Amino acid sequence: MRLSADLAEALGRCTGLAADSHTLPAACYVDPEVAALEAETVFRQGWVGIGRGDRWAASGDYAAMDLGGVPVVVVRDEEGVLRAYANTCRHRSAQVMEGEGHCTKMRCPFHFWTYGLDGRLLGAPSMRDTNGFERADHGLIEFMTAERQGFAFVSLEDSPPPIDDWLGDFPDLHARWDLGSMVTTRRREFTVACNWKAFAEVFNEYYHLPYVHPGSIDDTYDDPDDPEVVVGAWATHAGTTQGTGGLLEADQVKALPVIGTLNDREAHGVRYSWLYPTLVTATGAEGMWMYEVYPDGPDRCRCAQVVCFPPETAALEGFAEVAEAYYERFDVAIAEDIPMLERQHRGMRSPFARQGRFSYLEPNVARFAGWYADRLLSVG
Ligand code: FES
Ligand SMILES: [Fe+2]
Repeated sequence: MRLSADLAEALGRCTGLAADSHTLPAACYVDPEVAALEAETVFRQGWVGIGRGDRWAASGDYAAMDLGGVPVVVVRDEEGVLRAYANTCRHRSAQVMEGEGHCTKMRCPFHFWTYGLDGRLLGAPSMRDTNGFERADHGLIEFMTAERQGFAFVSLEDSPPPIDDWLGDFPDLHARWDLGSMVTTRRREFTVACNWKAFAEVFNEYYHLPYVHPGSIDDTYDDPDDPEVVVGAWATHAGTTQGTGGLLEADQVKALPVIGTLNDREAHGVRYSWLYPTLVTATGAEGMWMYEVYPDGPDRCRCAQVVCFPPETAALEGFAEVAEAYYERFDVAIAEDIPMLERQHRGMRSPFARQGRFSYLEPNVARFAGWYADRLLSVG
C-alpha cells in the first residue's frame, strides 16, 4: 500500500514544531486505508507500550490484546520474564487466549493444542498419524518485549531499534519520580468513539483547559513552561500548578505526600509526556496518572486509565479512601474530554475537514504529528 500524492504532501506540512507545522490531515483519523498503513508502520514497527508491567505481577498472569490488527497475548513466564506471542494457534489459527487472567498453560479451545508460558507446544491431541509432525516446530510465534521504568513494551518487528534508543531521554527527565518502583492502584478500561490519536492528543495539550475544563481543573494549571527539546520517540510538556494537578479544586486539602526526591518545580507541577504511540503519562507531585490507548479501527479506541503511586504512599493508612479523590479528579476530567473528542471526530469525518494550525500550547501534539508523518512517509 502506498500514500497518495495528496496525503504525502499534507504529511510533509507536519514539521513537528508548533510554530510552523500544520495539523495531521483528517484522513489520518478517519480513512480505513490510512489506518491500515498506520498499523503497518506505527504498530508493527518500532516499540509499542502496553501499560505497566505490574499488570502481569505473577508468573502466569496474561492479557490478550490487539496491536495494529494483530492479536497478541502477553504473559509472565515461569522465570518472571514478560513474554509476548502472536495469539494465533499454530494448528488452524484460532485465537488462543481471550481477555486477561491467570493461567499455567495456554490452551487453544478449538482442538486443545496446548502451549507453555515459554510458547512451546506441549500437547496436541490425535496427531500420531501426521507424517513429519514435530511439536518443536509449532510453538507460538514470539515477539520481543522490554520493561523500562515500570512500563512494558512489545515490538512486532524482527529487529527493532534498541529500546533505550527508542525511549531516548525519557528516563532522564523522569528520573526523580522513580517510576520503576511505583505501583498501580487503579486500572479502568473504556472505549471512546474517536480515533486513538485524538485521545492521546487531548491529554497532551493545555490549549483546551479553559474551554473544556473551566470548573474542574483549569484554575489549577498555570501557563505551561516552554517545551523542551528531547531525544527519542516521545514528547513532553511541563508546567506548574496551584496546589496539585491530581485533585479537583474542591479536594485540594486531601493531597497525599509529595514525592521527596522531586525538585521544587516538579513538586509544584505536572509533566505531561507521550511515549509514542500508545502511552500518555502525567507525572505529578504525588504520583502518576496515565492512559493506554489502542485503535479499534479509525473511528474507535480502547483506553485504560492507570493510576500509580510510590509504594510507601500506597501503604499509608487511609490511602484507599484518599485515592478515591484522585480517581474522581481523573474521571471528571476525562468525562469532560470525551464528548469533545467524539464531537471532534464527527467534524473530522467531513470531506471539508482541512489541515489546521497549532497554538504554542500544543507542542506535544505538533511533535507527535511530525513523528507520525515521518513514519507514514517512510513507506512512501
Ligand atoms: S486451531 Fe487451535 S487447536 Fe485447532
Ligand atoms: Fe482535557
